[in-house]
Amino acid sequence: MAGPMTLDLCVENPLTVATSSQTEQAATVFSAEVRSREAKEIRVSELISALSYALDLTEGRPMGHSVRSCVIGMRIAEAIGLPAEAQADLYYALLMKDAGCSSNSSRLYHILNADDIRAKGDLKTKDWTKVGWESLHYAVTHVATSSPFPERVWRLVQVAATQQADSCELVKIRCERGSSIARKLGFSEAVARSIHSLDEHWNGKGYPEGLTQHEIPLGSGIANLSQTLEVFWEAHGPEAAIEAARKRSGRWFNPELVQAAVSLDQAHRLWLDLDKEDLMARVLALEPERRRLTADEATVDNICLAFAEIIDAKTPFTYRHSTGVAEAAVKIGTEFGMERKELKKLERAALLHDIGKLGVSNAILEKPGKLTAEEFAVVRQHPYHTYEILRRVPAFADFSADAAAHHERLNGKGYWQGLRADHLSMRARILAVADVFDALSAKRPYREALPLEKVFAMMREDAPHALDPECLEALE
Ligand SMILES: [Fe+2]
Ligand SMILES: [Fe+2]
Repeated sequence: MAGPMTLDLCVENPLTVATSSQTEQAATVFSAEVRSREAKEIRVSELISALSYALDLTEGRPMGHSVRSCVIGMRIAEAIGLPAEAQADLYYALLMKDAGCSSNSSRLYHILNADDIRAKGDLKTKDWTKVGWESLHYAVTHVATSSPFPERVWRLVQVAATQQADSCELVKIRCERGSSIARKLGFSEAVARSIHSLDEHWNGKGYPEGLTQHEIPLGSGIANLSQTLEVFWEAHGPEAAIEAARKRSGRWFNPELVQAAVSLDQAHRLWLDLDKEDLMARVLALEPERRRLTADEATVDNICLAFAEIIDAKTPFTYRHSTGVAEAAVKIGTEFGMERKELKKLERAALLHDIGKLGVSNAILEKPGKLTAEEFAVVRQHPYHTYEILRRVPAFADFSADAAAHHERLNGKGYWQGLRADHLSMRARILAVADVFDALSAKRPYREALPLEKVFAMMREDAPHALDPECLEALE
């Protein structure tokens, strides 16, 4: 029952994106309500609900998972009569519940020696707390899947031996990062706590602290139930979703919350309109009015920085890459005498240029050897995902195509569209130069930072046929 927002990662993308003005047209998919608002008023919910699509990619979920979980969770909250103030906290916690998702991807890849995104996605429909066929089948189909048989068996034994400690560690990394990001964004302590305890279970067998029953923040309990309901609904339909919640009632979930979900299902209100195209507008309308947050320039910057942190946390290979590209891009823009407003757009585009990388498995990003053609095809798709995510944010639609053009080259030999010079704006050219500069000049786990003279010498070999020589000169 994949909704209209589902994105097939394997399908060659039919879209062509060339200019910023075309992007503006593409961004008009959103409802009239969103479009008709004053351009200068940006709501926090609008930014984080659209950017939550990137978190869905990292979690191996079809895009829209967080937004649909938010709708389900808010319906449950209303049904149990949660006070308005707590509903506001819950609303942001539901949208940002996976903010820490990228921080344990690398560790998970090294534990399983297999595709972390597939492992995360499939884990969502498994009751991994029960020892039995389900957990065994999961382990056999997700651990060291491309290794030779003896190595695979050995890895399975290792995973089984350390499963509990590893699970706790993985959840701890994720929930600490997620709650810290919520605090940095200025959300309330209740929002941060709800994100922190998302994986606690009613019977005390969850992680990271093993909290039981009412020790678990109510927001975490609702979010955990809502995300499970959404995953089963999306994969197997409403009956399977209710069945999964019932089976885990009293073990994973507070029985009263499960009962509320069952009642909503019986009243045909739980799944209402979840598959509608204008779901985003409906989510925005659910934001409790009294606590409706409007983003000023500093808040928008903070959100961009927070997502840059989420992107860079995916792998140690890209540590501080997004902020590094932003610094280099702003230097070039300043050298060109760009106006403050333009510089701001350039900086935000740079901070978010690799947001589509959240959809690439760490098995590919951290592969020690050469990538296969299939793996490289996945890598080549990441700017497309950047475009797909950013164009949904009205405030970012203007630069989404340029941010997604950072691997394009003047001679048309770049990706994902193979655009040539006449289709590459100055902003796109600056981003391409800044991206290569940071990739070469930053320290990486496998090598020291290259000396600047060497970086520029290497880049000069790519100008003027691939990289813009004026941008390079400005940076030098
Ligand atoms: Fe990239
Ligand atoms: Fe990059």
